[in-house]
Amino acid sequence: MKIPELFSVEGYGVIVTGGASGLGLGFTEALAENGARVTMLDVDTSRIERETNRLRQVGLDVRGEVVDVTDHPALDRAFDTAAGLYGRLDVVFANAGIDPGPGFVGGWTGTQRPRLAEGALENYTDERWNRVIELNLNGVFATLRAAARHLRPRRSGRIIVTTSVAAYMTEAVIGAAYMTAKAGAAHLMRNVALELAAYNITVNAIAPGFFVTNIGGGHAHNPGVQKAVAQVVPMHRVGFPEDMKGLALFLASPASAYITGQQIAIDGGWGLGTAD
Ligand SMILES: NC(=O)c1ccc[n+]([C@@H]2O[C@H](COP(=O)([O-])OP(=O)(O)OC[C@H]3O[C@@H](n4cnc5c(N)ncnc54)[C@H](O)[C@@H]3O)[C@@H](O)[C@H]2O)c1
Repeated sequence: MKIPELFSVEGYGVIVTGGASGLGLGFTEALAENGARVTMLDVDTSRIERETNRLRQVGLDVRGEVVDVTDHPALDRAFDTAAGLYGRLDVVFANAGIDPGPGFVGGWTGTQRPRLAEGALENYTDERWNRVIELNLNGVFATLRAAARHLRPRRSGRIIVTTSVAAYMTEAVIGAAYMTAKAGAAHLMRNVALELAAYNITVNAIAPGFFVTNIGGGHAHNPGVQKAVAQVVPMHRVGFPEDMKGLALFLASPASAYITGQQIAIDGGWGLGTAD
């Protein structure tokens, strides 16, 4: 197989949850720019509308639907609609996720990491815990289930879960529920990969490090935060959604046909430790 064929997603039917912003928008662009037909599912009505119009104007086959991944019947209906429209479903990105609010320290790096009462375990509310688990873990479960219902009968497909380096590293600035949900999503991914392997369906995860997106109200856009994080990332820079495109295309295309159950970090070396 020649390289263009190996990485071809031409004509694929694709669904991206949380597709209207940040990493999900990067996945949408990566696939649509290479000939796939992509449906973005997102709760953000105005972003869906804006990004759908923008991408359609440059000739990409993209549509959007307002869906909350915690509304499982609505999610199932949106899958049926997209698959019906495309006549096929090939790739699903289980990507929607939220920032859970502060962890037990404030500040990403350095010596200025004061303890935060709000993030302390004793003060961690049920409401906050449940919201993160409901979205970042149960939402992934519902997305994988909806994907399996369409992909298994076709005996073909790709599922890609956005986890995080927080699935295997703990970060005190992030709330405890986030680490728990991401570790759970990573292990769920492995279990589903095992179940679906015999059906020629691969299931993998992308574990991002620090990326500039709109998560948590967009704190990653703060240049001071970016500079501080870049200091401890071995590649000395933070990530941008554009950095995701190669890996997304790889995991969605025939190039990764024999890879399943893997979590691939994309973090500029952050997980290796600190260099200089
Ligand atoms: N940005 C990072 O540094 C980083 C690092 C590791 C993992 N992640 C993960 O990447 C994924 C994407 O986050 P991002 O950083 O691109 O953030 P983002 O906020 O830019 O994008 C997330 C999108 O998900 C949508 N969304 C939120 N709740 C939803 C719901 N209930 N149903 C459907 N859509 C919903 C939002 O409207 C938004 O468009 C998340 O799972 C996040 O945990 C991000």
